[in-house]
Amino acid sequence: MKKSELKDAIIKAKKETGTLILAHTYQDPDIIDIADITGDSFALSKAAANISDKKRVLLCGVRFMADTVKILSPEKEVILSHKNATCPMAEQIAPERVRQFREENPDVCVCAYINTSTELKAECDVCVTSSTAVKIVSSLPSDKVLFIPDQNLGSYVSQFVPNKEIILWDGCCPTHHSVSVKDVQEAKAKHPNAKIAVHPECRKEVVELCDFVGSTSEIITFCKSCDDDVIIATERGVCDKLSRDYPERGFYQLALNKLTCPNMKMTTLENAYKALIGEFGDVIEIEEELRLKAKRSIDNMLKYGG
Ligand code: 13P
Ligand code: SF4
Repeated sequence: MKKSELKDAIIKAKKETGTLILAHTYQDPDIIDIADITGDSFALSKAAANISDKKRVLLCGVRFMADTVKILSPEKEVILSHKNATCPMAEQIAPERVRQFREENPDVCVCAYINTSTELKAECDVCVTSSTAVKIVSSLPSDKVLFIPDQNLGSYVSQFVPNKEIILWDGCCPTHHSVSVKDVQEAKAKHPNAKIAVHPECRKEVVELCDFVGSTSEIITFCKSCDDDVIIATERGVCDKLSRDYPERGFYQLALNKLTCPNMKMTTLENAYKALIGEFGDVIEIEEELRLKAKRSIDNMLKYGG
């Protein structure tokens, strides 16, 4: 099938099957075109909490995002677009390690980035996304916070909460963590008048060289609000979107080969279509006791994150 025919077939299948398509901004532009709701992790979580009229949801992104939809809307059939699309960071910390830490440190609040497995969320007090992390950690009642798994986001957040002790472990996003100071210096030399916008999952020394730090959606808002050219230091989906939406502007992708998340890019139009008609993807199942435990930390995120 030609691309345009495939997109038409997807639109038809969406209607016939009563399916809502949610897609993270890092998805390929073709997937963004056929989605009903797109955005960063927080926007997708909020959308999941408010789904009312659809009985099926197809999540184009990675597994923890589909799990979040199922945790918040257990009565829906939730399908992940590709069964192998996982976020490696979500699996980096074993839930038993947190259980043991909590036993030894009962006064520490455990805060998990939303990029975590359901099993890990079930051991934590509250989740955050990159756009809500500073706000939520600032408002936690405890002076000591274990922030997992992303050491880079945790280190970024700690600058804004000097009155709290933030304990970090060794997790990170392999895609963003691979960006080096040299990558930034080379891009700056090539585009000396451009501003640089970076995701806080990048290393501290990379973030320090940039003009704006924010989540996927915050980077897009920043780019819309300024007239400058911008070098984009996050997954290439953001730069692809901005270049398509504003073809007259100068947006430059930093370290293209490094900032292409292989898991986010597993979903194609073909497999999204097959997932819609029940021939591909993974139907999410979560055992009820585990779901309720994990839901507590997501509910707290939605409560404190606004
Ligand atoms: P956002 O919270 O900006 O959507 O980021 C999600 C993600 O996977 C970043 O790598
Ligand atoms: Fe996970 Fe990084 Fe890919 Fe985001 S970009 S899904 S954090 S591996």
